[in-house]
Amino acid sequence: MMQFNPREFIDEKIGFLRREIGGEMAIVALSGGVDSSVTAVLGFKAVGKNLRAVFLEDGFMRIGEAEKISRVFRNLGINVDVHNVQREFLTALKGIRDAEDKRKAFRDTFYKTFSRIAGQAGAKIILQGTIAADIVETAGGVKTQHNVLEQIGINPLEKYGFKIVEPLKELYKNQVRMVARELGLPDEIVNRRPFPGPGLAIRILGEVTEEKLSIIKKATAIVDDELEDVECFQAFPVLLEGRATGLDRDSTRKYGYMIALRIVESEDAITAKYVRLDWTKLDGVRDMIIRNIPEVSRVLYDISDKPPATIEFE
Ligand code: XMP
Repeated sequence: MMQFNPREFIDEKIGFLRREIGGEMAIVALSGGVDSSVTAVLGFKAVGKNLRAVFLEDGFMRIGEAEKISRVFRNLGINVDVHNVQREFLTALKGIRDAEDKRKAFRDTFYKTFSRIAGQAGAKIILQGTIAADIVETAGGVKTQHNVLEQIGINPLEKYGFKIVEPLKELYKNQVRMVARELGLPDEIVNRRPFPGPGLAIRILGEVTEEKLSIIKKATAIVDDELEDVECFQAFPVLLEGRATGLDRDSTRKYGYMIALRIVESEDAITAKYVRLDWTKLDGVRDMIIRNIPEVSRVLYDISDKPPATIEFE
């Protein structure tokens, strides 16, 4: 295979985006991750003011995400409009237990909400940071990624009323990071660990409730903070279904939630190995979780590789 050249890629995709967007208005939804950030910067280089950047606060993003991404883009001279759509997502997911059903409900709500916001901005074109792994997994029937439509026979123009343009769809994560670096994005974005489109909705096993969402948000912030310096592809907590027996501070029995920690090494997300994290480090995360989230009584460590497990639990 030819060596990947990020500079050539950027030049080629700017031309591609100009042709695809023409004189129309386009819109891009940032998630805080490297894929959508690269897509947005390429889009702005291609069509400037004819692109709008938004952040959909769907309630399943990490704490402080809207502020973080707005700050990063402000430093690049790009304004990000934040839209709070949490209620719509919580309502859409209410009562759904099955992982694939949750993913589909999330996808549908995402595109409905996003097309409404696109309409308000006068945009008929959506730029999306879909990468090769997203398509491989969805087309291969592994998981319904929230951002893959055409490959599974959904026509976005017919179903939601807009055209989707995906400049990164032949790239793998490490190549996207090379492009991000070349574009001058800050390290906090270039090296950011992947975060799934449906966000914390798929890190709560089974039905999403506001209580569980609040627990996983706190746990995610703790893990991000405690394991910031660990070399890995991803490190995150998952809130398991059911409760386990535990003890309160006064030694009375309580049924607490269980959190699983998932820390993996991977090149391209297609395969992954669990990280043999130092025990002292694990103890530290456990202590922070147990101390700060009283509803949790157990922390488990996931030693599964992909395959047979996937990286995310749902
Ligand atoms: P799995 O769980 O399939 O995940 O081993 C592979 C990689 O993809 C991320 N992931 C997603 N990314 N939308 C995304 O943009 C999604 O719906 C989605 N589901 C999983 C996951 O975090 C891992 O990096």
